[in-house]
Amino acid sequence: MAEVPEKHRRADRERILDTVDPRTPNVPRMYDYLLGGKDNYAVDREAVAEVVRRAPDTPYMARQNRAFLGRAVRFLAASGIRQFLDIGSGLPTQGNVHEIAQGVAPDSRVVYVDVDPVVLTHGRALLAGRPGVAVIQGDARRPEEILAAPELHGLIDLEQPVAVLMLAVLHFIDDVDDPHGIVARFRDAMAPGSYLTVTHVTGDFDTDGRVREAAAAYESATSQITLRGRADVLRLFDGFELVDPGLTTLALWRPDPGESLPPDADRQWCYAGVGRKID
Ligand SMILES: C[S@@+](CC[C@H](N)C(=O)[O-])C[C@H]1O[C@@H](n2cnc3c(N)ncnc32)[C@H](O)[C@@H]1O
Repeated sequence: MAEVPEKHRRADRERILDTVDPRTPNVPRMYDYLLGGKDNYAVDREAVAEVVRRAPDTPYMARQNRAFLGRAVRFLAASGIRQFLDIGSGLPTQGNVHEIAQGVAPDSRVVYVDVDPVVLTHGRALLAGRPGVAVIQGDARRPEEILAAPELHGLIDLEQPVAVLMLAVLHFIDDVDDPHGIVARFRDAMAPGSYLTVTHVTGDFDTDGRVREAAAAYESATSQITLRGRADVLRLFDGFELVDPGLTTLALWRPDPGESLPPDADRQWCYAGVGRKID
């Protein structure tokens, strides 16, 4: 992997320090608040209020994202996957990956990875002693470090199929950090029969500019947002075959039987897809 320039390493260190700065809105805590959780502070709630002022459907989209996560993990578990690597996992909340996967197959193992030390602290406190679960601090921009983590190898055998989940995280990775290259590095480490699951916010349906404005409100938070269009998101699946129904908006990906679709189903500002690694 290319050497990371000193100025980037410095920027990363500063960003990690920012995450423990009580004055900086913290992305995992903001997301927790969007989902109705209690692990957040006034600074996070104020930042979310501004995001919601700009795009009032943001809490709804967060819930739709979690609903997709549930459907995707059930699909993966039903497809025989027993190992899950959840990158950019966020704070533990309702319907965590291990709860869903172990609900289908109790021997499922899940490694949660997040760049934010807040996630590590909360995650370890809440998930300590759960069989088959580990939480590690890791930066998606440094796949080699994640893939070499001893805690990962304690639970996941990379010679066997694994599901790599990157939900609502790749839009926090700037073009300069090459999100496509990052995903390709994970792909190359995945055994045949593995799956990639992605959700990613988009400006493709942003006719009134509210999504761009809401994304811009993350400027002062611990991570900033890059909206990407359909072609760019599709390219994340290079080397994978998308399972039916392909890359869709959140609600259109395999809705549960009997579930009625929301009126905005085909214009939701977040893409979702699951791809199977091409052998
Ligand atoms: C919106 S939350 C998504 C949580 C969960 N994946 C979901 O979809 O419900 C985004 C998470 O990505 C994490 N994140 C942002 N940049 C990251 C990076 N470079 N490496 C790992 N995690 C990152 C944030 O700390 C945050 O917890």
